[in-house]
This record gives sequence, C-alpha cells and structure tokens, in this order.
Amino acid sequence: MTSRIATLQAFSKANRHGLATPADRPPALTVRLQASPRHFASILDAHEIFAWLINLEAPPESSERLFGLLTTDEQSRALRYKIAKAREQFVIGRGLLRRLLGEYLAQEPQTVPLCYLPSGKPVLAGNSPPIHFNVTHTDGWAIVAVGYHRLGVDIERVRPVTDVVGLVSRYFSHIEAEDFRRLPEPYHTAAFFRGWTCKEAVIKAAGATVAYLADFDVEVNPQFPPCVKAVRDPVLASTGWVLAEWRTSANAAVAFAVEGVEQLVIQPEGNL
Ligand SMILES: CC(C)(COP(=O)(O)OP(=O)(O)OC[C@H]1O[C@@H](n2cnc3c(N)ncnc32)[C@H](O)[C@@H]1OP(=O)(O)O)[C@@H](O)C(=O)NCCC(=O)NCCS
Repeated sequence: MTSRIATLQAFSKANRHGLATPADRPPALTVRLQASPRHFASILDAHEIFAWLINLEAPPESSERLFGLLTTDEQSRALRYKIAKAREQFVIGRGLLRRLLGEYLAQEPQTVPLCYLPSGKPVLAGNSPPIHFNVTHTDGWAIVAVGYHRLGVDIERVRPVTDVVGLVSRYFSHIEAEDFRRLPEPYHTAAFFRGWTCKEAVIKAAGATVAYLADFDVEVNPQFPPCVKAVRDPVLASTGWVLAEWRTSANAAVAFAVEGVEQLVIQPEGNL
C-alpha cells in the first residue's frame, strides 16, 4: 500500500491542479479494460487506468450484498428509485466502485469518502490521494474507471435512432452538426454514437453538465480517430483532453476522455 501511495504522490506532484507541461506528460496511458467478474487489480499503476466493464445482469456480487456496502445516504437514494432497473444500476455501480476504491485506499468500502461537485459528479473527498474515477451505465452494462488523471467515461448501447439529424442539431455543436451533415448517410449511426459518447466523456471528465454540449467540438467522423478539436468554455478547459473509444461485443459504444497525456490506448482483456 505504501508504495502504491508513494508512486501516486510522486506522480501527482508534477500533475497537481493540472499544471503538468507537455514535457511532463506520459506519452501514452493504457486503459486496462476488464470484464466482470475478474478480480480487481491489486495495484493501480500510474500509467494506466483500470476500467471494469460490468454485466449488470450478472454482477460479480449480488445487489443485496452490494447494497450493504453503501452509506445510509446512498441506501436512501437507492430506495427512492421507482424503477427497479435504475435502482440496480445505481446499487451495483456504486457498490463495486466502493469495493474498488476501498481496495486501492486499503479501507473498508463503506468508509471511502465520496462527495459531490456542484454538477453532481462524485469525487473522492478531502485529502485523499489524487485518485480520479468515473462511472457510466447503459442498458445492461456499466463501467467503473479509476486512475490518476481526470477522466470521464460513457457507454451507450448502439441502437437505431429515429431523427438522428434532428438529435445532432439539438445536442451537438454547430461545427459538429455541419461535419455530421457532410457524412454519407450509412455513417450516421456510428457518427452519432461516436459524437454522443465522446461528448459525454469530456463533459464527465471536466465535471461539467450537458449545459456545455455546444461549447466544444469533437471529431464526429468515425473514419478518423476521436479527438477534441476545440474548447470554447473555461469550464471545459484542461491541459489537454485525449479521447479513445471501444465497441463491445454486445454492441455498446464506449468512450474515455483523459486529461494530461499524449495518447490513450485501450487494452481490452478477455472477450469484451
Ligand atoms: C449526468 C451526466 C453527466 C451523464 O448522464 P448519463 O449519460 O445519463 O449517465 P452515465 O450513466 O453515463 O453516468 C452517470 C454517472 O456519472 C456520474 N456523474 C453524475 N454527474 C456527473 C457529472 N456532472 N460529471 C461526471 N460524472 C457525473 C455518476 O457516478 C453517475 O452515476 P451514479 O448516479 O450511479 O453514481 C449528464 O451528462 C447527463 O445528464 N446527460 C444526459 C444525456 C444526454 O442528453 N446526452 C446528450 C449527449 S449528445
């Protein structure tokens, strides 16, 4: 545990408050994507992000057991969900997040100190080591991602979308919408989920909200690698957002946004 924290503190000195210069940045960061029910990594490496793809239909622990890992506030929140599926998503995601953070911090899951930014983003509270995390869910799947960089993750099950052009005009920036309209129709679904997941991942990494959807542009053309092309609002500012995407075998689109690295590489382990 001591060495874990030491690595983390040494690394965070250069990167604290996002002040790392391009020269300090690690050239590439690996997102180690594992499927449930593989066990947690025992050590969180400074040069990787651990991302856990969780099958919500077959979680590694029952939701009853995971409910017991939540704080009383979280348990009350869970009980307020009227839709059972939404309640399960929250309980499983939050319970396994607490398990994972508890493992890295060497403390009981219930005592991991979580608090919320004004936008609603849950973060580690107080003087905890600078571990960052983010959670996402879609129909049947969740991802919990943990690392030493500000990060955001989004997963969306790819499905037919009616009025995709209308949705793009409504939710994407003007520039993204123009880029989208130039694409041939067969690319539209892929471009929509590329844009959607990448935009959500950036917003979530920055701890912002959907109110900022028009304030930055991502590459929506799925023939090109994902990237952030422009940022127009300081709320979304960073030392540089890097994006990477993955399509699961269950046809869910996944995007990660991470701050302060030159390159992000997703390394899936097992049949994902
Ligand atoms: C809340 C929001 C940040 C993500 O919502 P979402 O895509 O529905 O949900 P996801 O499953 O990806 O993420 C939810 C999790 O992110 C975390 N989260 C909540 N607010 C967050 C914020 N402001 N920033 C980062 N993470 C946040 C929480 O852990 C939450 O899970 P929990 O409630 O179980 O703890 C926000 O972007 C939103 O409301 N999106 C609506 C979707 C939309 O209209 N998208 C248009 C895209 S083109």
